Amino acid sequence: MIRPFFILCAIFHNNGVSLSSKIRKFPDSFEFGASTSAYQIEGGWYEDGKGLSIWDIATHMDPSQIKDKSTGDIAADSYHLYKRDVEIAKELGLDFYRFSVSWPRILPKGLPNQINQAGIDYYNNLINELLKNNIKPFLTIYHWDLPYELQKLGGWINPHVVDWFVDYVKILYDYYGDRVKLWITINEPKQICYEGYGSTLKAPMLNASGVAEYMCAKNLLLAHAKAYHLYNQNYRKLQNGTVGISISCTWFEPASETIDDHQAAVDANQFDWGQYAHPIFSKAGHFPFELKKNIALKSAEQGFSRSRLPELSASEVALIRGSADFFGVNTYTTKLAYRDASLDGLYAVPSYMDDMAAVVVGNPTWPQAKSTWLQEVPWGFYKLLKEIKKNYNNPVVYITENGWSTAGGLFDDDRIQYYRNYLSVLHDAIEEGCDVRKYTAWSLIDNFEWKNGYTEKFGLYEVDFSREDRNRTPRKSAYVYKEIIRTKSLDTTYEPEINTV
Ligand SMILES: *[C@@H]1O[C@H](CO)[C@@H](O)[C@H](O)[C@H]1NC(C)=O
Ligand SMILES: *[C@@H]1O[C@H](CO)[C@@H](O)[C@H](O)[C@H]1NC(C)=O
Repeated sequence: MIRPFFILCAIFHNNGVSLSSKIRKFPDSFEFGASTSAYQIEGGWYEDGKGLSIWDIATHMDPSQIKDKSTGDIAADSYHLYKRDVEIAKELGLDFYRFSVSWPRILPKGLPNQINQAGIDYYNNLINELLKNNIKPFLTIYHWDLPYELQKLGGWINPHVVDWFVDYVKILYDYYGDRVKLWITINEPKQICYEGYGSTLKAPMLNASGVAEYMCAKNLLLAHAKAYHLYNQNYRKLQNGTVGISISCTWFEPASETIDDHQAAVDANQFDWGQYAHPIFSKAGHFPFELKKNIALKSAEQGFSRSRLPELSASEVALIRGSADFFGVNTYTTKLAYRDASLDGLYAVPSYMDDMAAVVVGNPTWPQAKSTWLQEVPWGFYKLLKEIKKNYNNPVVYITENGWSTAGGLFDDDRIQYYRNYLSVLHDAIEEGCDVRKYTAWSLIDNFEWKNGYTEKFGLYEVDFSREDRNRTPRKSAYVYKEIIRTKSLDTTYEPEINTV
């Protein structure tokens, strides 16, 4: 029986965080940006020597997997319109623009024996255009578009992916490191490992839950760590940049005050983001205790000869621990977690969800975005930031994604409210000592939202996907964000005049 969670959680409304209306100034050194990713905006899917990625394959092999049967073949056409994107970044007054590089555009077959010069040129042009306009390039090395040739070999569950990734990273440091000083190795490990290999939510849709996502997690952490150490050893002295990882973090709140529900929320937080954050940012390193305990126990009960969670050797733990200059936080929403013995049998065995053994739900009273998974819960963001500060000795945090989806349209007051409320509690957290130094809106422009195609819009600028020229138009939220950046402060009474950016 599913419990009526809306009764359980009514008590959490606002949760002690006051959304005050006074003008709130961010520190002078605080920086604002906006984000996109290659597959979601570039198009040019088979142009100028680019190889195929797992998303090209997923969208072409079985279009019915995508809500509107669309692909990223053209997307927002940023492969051709990147100058307009930079102009938009300039219009907004961004300090930095976070974009990702398509691995198969650089290495069509995934491996470094064949480098695609047109791909190298594309990102050189984008980086130079940004710098010409005084906007810092913030480069994500991997945002989900694995070369298909590497997926044929197992992709992220083949331990050799560590070497493949480091070979690719080295090329980017070599070609772009003279001008790029902000690096993210990997975007959202959970979406890569659990959603891609443990379910069918993301490419390559392997659906081998309970086993594949943990193999992926180990390989991914090692790939990240080796890319970080490569920078330290061969590039840092000369290039003086900063290298981190972006982890998607949902905040899980206990649905009631019972010990069981409290533990369900702890487990959910550790499975969702502690799985990747703890090995890198905690003092002890290794996977979190809750993960090791739950998976070992269940594996033994289920007749496995060892835990389905792979071991990390002492030297691997040491390699991964401390391997980031900053914690990139991608965060959107909060969920309630509870535990209920009558739910035995709800999840497949073995599986990630069964290992976590928590039921997670939203709350119908929270403001709802177009995306079913996304509700506005500012206090959850605040609690997340405080927890990161507490668990990992107050690391440098960059918010590398945060945003809101609508069905479209230029007058997006719900997005404006979301940004204001999230930035307001971010300001609270900074005042209380959380070392957050950058904020990145997702997204600069509308784009291909993975399995939801073009049905969910996250852009500060609207893209008209029905027009060949993919015309971009600022939404009301773009004017509000521009004013926040211009003044480095939040003034909730500000109303833009919508005809001048
Ligand atoms: C994925 O695996 C689960 C359990 O292992 C199964 O119930 C489900 O039908 C699979 N989904 C698809 C789309 O194959
Ligand atoms: C390296 O970058 C930091 C800012 O990130 C700056 O303060 C420092 O002066 C730079 N050092 C060199 C040697 O360029």
